[in-house]
Amino acid sequence: MSTGFTVGTRIHSGLGTLAGTAGILRGIGVSRVMVVVDGGLARLGLLDGLVESAGVRDLVVGTSLVGVNPAPAEVEAAAAEALAAGADGVLAIGGGSGLSAAKAVALLMTNPVAIGSLEGDGRAAHPPAPTVAVPTTAGSGSEVSNALVLHEPGKIREMVIRGTGYEPVAAVLDATVLRGLPKEPLVFAALDALTHALESLWSRGRNVFTDACALHAGSEILDALPETVEGAIDGRNARGENDDALQRLLEAASLANIACGNSGLALVHALSSSPAVQVPHGLQNGILLPYVAGFNRGELSREGQELVDRIDELYHRIGFEARFDAGQAQAEAMIDASRGHVFRNNNARNSSDGELHELLRLAGAAAA
Ligand SMILES: [Fe+2]
Repeated sequence: MSTGFTVGTRIHSGLGTLAGTAGILRGIGVSRVMVVVDGGLARLGLLDGLVESAGVRDLVVGTSLVGVNPAPAEVEAAAAEALAAGADGVLAIGGGSGLSAAKAVALLMTNPVAIGSLEGDGRAAHPPAPTVAVPTTAGSGSEVSNALVLHEPGKIREMVIRGTGYEPVAAVLDATVLRGLPKEPLVFAALDALTHALESLWSRGRNVFTDACALHAGSEILDALPETVEGAIDGRNARGENDDALQRLLEAASLANIACGNSGLALVHALSSSPAVQVPHGLQNGILLPYVAGFNRGELSREGQELVDRIDELYHRIGFEARFDAGQAQAEAMIDASRGHVFRNNNARNSSDGELHELLRLAGAAAA
């Protein structure tokens, strides 16, 4: 059996690298940029500072604010705006939702179709408009991923669009943009990244390259997360006194995505793929993670088991309880979404619906 490993995104990483963003954009031929950004950042008044720090003001021809769990109509409107403004590239700023939306906009700028027609693998006729991604959470790793996720209201599953070349051309990993992140979004994002690393280790698609990335990413997140959570609470993050730990976390999140982007995701993400369960992605994965890890532990190498065995201590230190609130999440909706899902099939250990019911009962998910 042959295995493969690709990283399509050039990574510019380090404290202060945001200041080089304009040069990176020009270097890939972009002179008229559409900024697609998480609306939450704009509402917090952070957008102007980011655009200033990135030194891109001269290049910006339009700005589109996107919401959490972006819908197809939202990215289609943003792409129309970008084309009307004459944009030739995209600057994506935000967490997983914002970066996903931006990647969809970049695809629509060169493929004038309904976004739904691109659902699946490699459906676009043309590569996306060149995109530079600036993640503002250490979580999804979407900045190095060739997949994007949208949420179509009323559908049983998310809309996933992926393809070779759909990833941003460049990513800027500068933890100074993470300084103001409150505890909750910091934790949710990091637990999603930890899940990406561990899912890679118990996936059927894993290989020596993904294992190397996943083991290191998992270990870094377990090491760095408690310190960054304490820093979010006591103000050290905000004062720039915790930049090194935040940078480790940010790099580990990208690395975790490089692992799972090549190996494929597994059971946690299959269960969390139902848009009917309105729990933030990172929170939902963080709750499911220890139960799925216990289910898969026997499939792991000694190093993988050592990471899994540190989850309880991590959760204790950061004050995270791996349990759904009463009535928060429906077990049936999660299992329905996972049935036949490529991620569930990619999990190294086969699971029956009965086993998943038991696992979700332990996690406190509501029975039907
Ligand atoms: Fe995820």
